[in-house]
Amino acid sequence: MTMEYESNSWIWDGLYYYPHFFGGLMLTAALLGVSTSYFGGIGVFSLPHLWSDCFHKKKCGKKKRVRVYMDGCFDLMHYGHANALRQAKALGDELVVGVVSDEEIIANKGPPVLSMEERLALVSGLKWVDEVIANAPYAITEQFMNRLFNEHKIDYIIHGDDPCLLPDGTDAYALAKKVGRYKQIKRTEGVSSTDIVGRILSSMEDTKACEDHNNASLPRDPLRAIQSKDAHLSQFLPTSRRIVQFSNCKGPGPNARVVYIDGAFDLFHAGHVEILKKARQLGDFLLVGIYTDQIVSEHRGSYHPIMHLHERSLSVLACRYVDEVIIGAPWEVTKDMITTFNICLVVHGTVSETNTPLTVRSKRSL
Ligand code: CTP
Repeated sequence: MTMEYESNSWIWDGLYYYPHFFGGLMLTAALLGVSTSYFGGIGVFSLPHLWSDCFHKKKCGKKKRVRVYMDGCFDLMHYGHANALRQAKALGDELVVGVVSDEEIIANKGPPVLSMEERLALVSGLKWVDEVIANAPYAITEQFMNRLFNEHKIDYIIHGDDPCLLPDGTDAYALAKKVGRYKQIKRTEGVSSTDIVGRILSSMEDTKACEDHNNASLPRDPLRAIQSKDAHLSQFLPTSRRIVQFSNCKGPGPNARVVYIDGAFDLFHAGHVEILKKARQLGDFLLVGIYTDQIVSEHRGSYHPIMHLHERSLSVLACRYVDEVIIGAPWEVTKDMITTFNICLVVHGTVSETNTPLTVRSKRSL
């Protein structure tokens, strides 16, 4: 494997620092993490240093913050990735995420759909992420692991409980496991980048088949149409617990300026992160309305959305700029909604998905 990052001053080029917005929630996990990090490590902290460090921290009344690292391709970012990073963050105080380089993904898995910049923007937009390292290697090599421990002060390297094998069949995390600095989180079933690509392709094929039938004026077999649509439906079953885990669990303050933006937010991408960031900057609380699957189908065609309502809601809720979502928002912003949610400003993007005119005059373009 080439170690191009060595000659590229990759750490400083690729390090994006984000303020720690949502600390403090996982105090118990953090305390557990601190205690195990001091005694579980091999090779990095020497024992005398360890004790003097402990003594110093105790004297100052400060606890060492546990820093955890998770890497990944994060291609076509989905709520499974977000849930992995949420769990990783709960194992420490600060989460550093390595976004694997395009070259390394090509060498180990095949070409990614999204570019490095897009994948970086998506990962950086997640509320659990504190720092991002661009162009990370696919496997944890000894050299990279030492950089993580010494330069980035990482305590633990984290990955999902699925095997991550290199082309030669070896475990990409073997070294981290060997030195006792590896922790595992539970992989989220029912979604993967491959599955999303499958859904997109299937939706394109179905749309084309539908058009061919219409052009040939042949009657379409309704059962076949339903079976075809079901073939690329998500198997994800949303639970109230998962929604709470992704939620900020905080309403707007009494004088908060509530900004509302709505949309399909299908296949959550870097452009969505950007518009949500801009919308949030216009007020103190960002409420996002996620259209129902039916509304999206009506406006984009029967094989849309690709991701269903609850999947789209989780992706939006995972974004650091979002305070609250309406799961199944109407197409039109009603007076009732404005009163109920105390909405001060309704905004929308300058790129319209359909030619349907917006119904609320106060909508402000971003
Ligand atoms: N992950 C997860 N649940 C999923 C998908 C990914 O917990 N449904 C975790 C992986 O275990 C890994 C991290 O997210 O720790 C980044 O995964 P990534 O490298 O992007 O790729 P894959 O594991 O191949 O997943 P996908 O095909 O969905 O990209």
